Amino acid sequence: MSHSSEISRRRTFAIISHPDAGKTTLTEKLLLFGGAIQTAGAVKSNKITKTAASDFMEIERQRGISVATSVMVFEYNGKQVNLLDTPGHKDFAEDTYRTLTAVDSVILVIDSVKGVEAQTKRLMEVCRMRDTPVIVFINKMDLEGQDPFDLLDELEEKLNIKVQPLSWPISKGYSFKGVYKLYDKELHLFESLKTKISDEVVSISDLSDPTLDQLVGEYAQQLREDVDLIENVYEPFSVQEYLEGKLAPVFFGSAMNNFGVKELLDKFVEIAPEPQSRQSSTREVLPDENKFSGFIFKIHANIDPRHRDRIAFLRVCSGRFERNKFYKHVRLEKEFKYPNPATFLAQAKSTIDEAYPGDVIGLYDTGNFKIGDTLTEGENMMFKGIPSFSPEIFKELVNRDPMKTKQLDKGIRQLTEEGVAQLFLQEPGSRKIVGTVGELQFEVIRYRLENEYGAKCEFEPKSYYKACWITTDTPSKLEEFKRIKGTNMVKDKEDNDVFLAPSKFILEMEQQNFPELTFHFTSEL
Ligand code: G4P
Repeated sequence: MSHSSEISRRRTFAIISHPDAGKTTLTEKLLLFGGAIQTAGAVKSNKITKTAASDFMEIERQRGISVATSVMVFEYNGKQVNLLDTPGHKDFAEDTYRTLTAVDSVILVIDSVKGVEAQTKRLMEVCRMRDTPVIVFINKMDLEGQDPFDLLDELEEKLNIKVQPLSWPISKGYSFKGVYKLYDKELHLFESLKTKISDEVVSISDLSDPTLDQLVGEYAQQLREDVDLIENVYEPFSVQEYLEGKLAPVFFGSAMNNFGVKELLDKFVEIAPEPQSRQSSTREVLPDENKFSGFIFKIHANIDPRHRDRIAFLRVCSGRFERNKFYKHVRLEKEFKYPNPATFLAQAKSTIDEAYPGDVIGLYDTGNFKIGDTLTEGENMMFKGIPSFSPEIFKELVNRDPMKTKQLDKGIRQLTEEGVAQLFLQEPGSRKIVGTVGELQFEVIRYRLENEYGAKCEFEPKSYYKACWITTDTPSKLEEFKRIKGTNMVKDKEDNDVFLAPSKFILEMEQQNFPELTFHFTSEL
């Protein structure tokens, strides 16, 4: 197959949702349709279910299991679908943001009862930063959820994107009858089938067809009125607007009951973008270029303490990746080859010989990679990623075993390079302030420092409100600010100046007092 047909048949995406909306269930049903798994229940294990902070070993075990489901590859309607997993736990939201740099589109799952939730909003903001095309799946239609029109309004309002239904639910909850496919005028009738694939589809030429009344009884009239309204409100669906990230098509269904999933998948492979170009530090890189390039967006530690090996996940951006060929690690200015690049087929991992744009491969690593690293065939460029966001919880890392200072330094550096947390250095004394989005990471860090690096630490809570990256055109003002702020001014791992604001009030005051300084809430300066 030619290089361009290899590219055009790939669809690389992620499913995102607020925890419990049904991401895992939908993933599993997509894999069932794709023939990648045969029974339901097979991917449940990737979900971090325990939330108690003391249960970090269990969390690590579960995170370990999720390596196998990091990338799920299956064939559907002649397309190769690469589904990248994102952690379900909110404390690992940063992992999800980074995964979003490696996809070309996303499916957003919404719980029809709960509507748009906190995590949904944050994830969508990240998608909007890169205009990533989004398809929405409103799940749990078998429950007494909100009115579908209200849900659409809520999506537009809270997610700040235009939406357009492509299927429409016929009632909901106990009386849920099915969905009407607005784009090809077919009825798909609901049957509660948890393990089988339901495919009873009835074509109706016109909504006035009396078959509709026979099939859905009293709900036929409501459907007619709803569809009438929809057809008056919406223009014909524009794939172009979807591809530009301006319009999100919406599907309704019930992942648990395998319902509405096929419509979603059929439309997804039809309209979702093929591998897209990517911006690097020097230029835009197109997938069909001859030379290989790619970047690391996720690093997963091996949970076996006897091996310090990690798996670095690389997204191929251009050309063709080949096993055992030397590639340039741009940051280290060194050439490396990879004898065992791994690909992932549902739950099995196997070695591959080549990979194409859109593919994600796992490279075994002994500590050479950090997130954002770029591999090329010699060109000096770095792919641009997603910036770091201000952490929400800050703690000072205190060494509890002075004999193991080196191990502690190395460990915390490697763990932050993996993206487990953000590290800020505070003078005097190079104190280490660790910032995370959730308490769980502190447990993970403490456990891993002890088990993998033999270092002992404690964390002392710090009551900072936010980390703000600071830039200015007036260096003297920045120097003055740094003098005044003293230990509240720290450096991130790229040596950028960061202000740890003690409170919202002080932050706002300083923004007024120092108009020459720009306070950024992400590390993208
Ligand atoms: P997540 O990955 O987004 O966190 O969600 P997950 O798929 O694990 O689903 C969360 C809960 O919602 C699960 O129930 C799941 O069975 C249920 N669920 C998913 N899709 C539907 C649906 O279409 N209808 C209904 N009624 N429920 C749905 P659980 O009790 O937490 O887990 P389990 O015991 O069912 O596995």
